[in-house]
Amino acid sequence: MSDALDVMRTRTVLRNYAPERVDDTLVDTLLDAMVAAPTASNKQAWSFVVVREPGSVRRLRAFAPGVIGTPALVVVACVDRSRTDRLPGHVSQKIYETSKLCVAMAVENLLLAAHAEGLGGCPVSSFRERQIRGLLGIPDHIEPLLVVPLGYPAEAPTPSDRRDKNEVISNERWGHAPAGTSA
Ligand SMILES: Cc1cc2nc3c(=O)[nH]c(=O)nc-3n(C[C@H](O)[C@H](O)[C@H](O)COP(=O)(O)O)c2cc1C
Repeated sequence: MSDALDVMRTRTVLRNYAPERVDDTLVDTLLDAMVAAPTASNKQAWSFVVVREPGSVRRLRAFAPGVIGTPALVVVACVDRSRTDRLPGHVSQKIYETSKLCVAMAVENLLLAAHAEGLGGCPVSSFRERQIRGLLGIPDHIEPLLVVPLGYPAEAPTPSDRRDKNEVISNERWGHAPAGTSA
């Protein structure tokens, strides 16, 4: 199996972090991988806030119940509405909606890059938006979608179950069993 496939197949969320700091150069590498994700019409209508100062991470956790454990850093992944709103009406709404998918893709890149480098993390949607905005000075046109705690694992995380592949993948037409399996 290639290294990339191995990384994709073995990533799992991390919720128990070692107190170890993450080197700045490594953080930068992860962020490069994050913004290498594809975006609709290459609009890159996104914006990210990286929070590393321990006191700020602690305050942010207080407003994000989905963040479990004490991560070394947190990336707040947002849609930048200023890059979608200035388009004509229906295009604007469509690009805004697809830009949310782009932010999710960037977060997946970030999580995979972290895993490849021996770190882990978790996409978190359970946070109090208003308080996070206030804490980080996020303006109205920037919309936080996911909070992503990252750090070295305190212990190896337990992989999650997956639904049977044949239950969720159809062959040629919806509901048709994948090739090589019985219906
Ligand atoms: C959009 C999204 C939001 C999530 N929000 C939370 C959250 O608020 N708190 C949390 O602990 N995990 C959250 N998760 C992590 C999922 O619980 C986790 O990915 C799922 O259980 C599968 O585990 P795995 O990623 O290890 O395969 C979220 C995942 C996604 C994709």
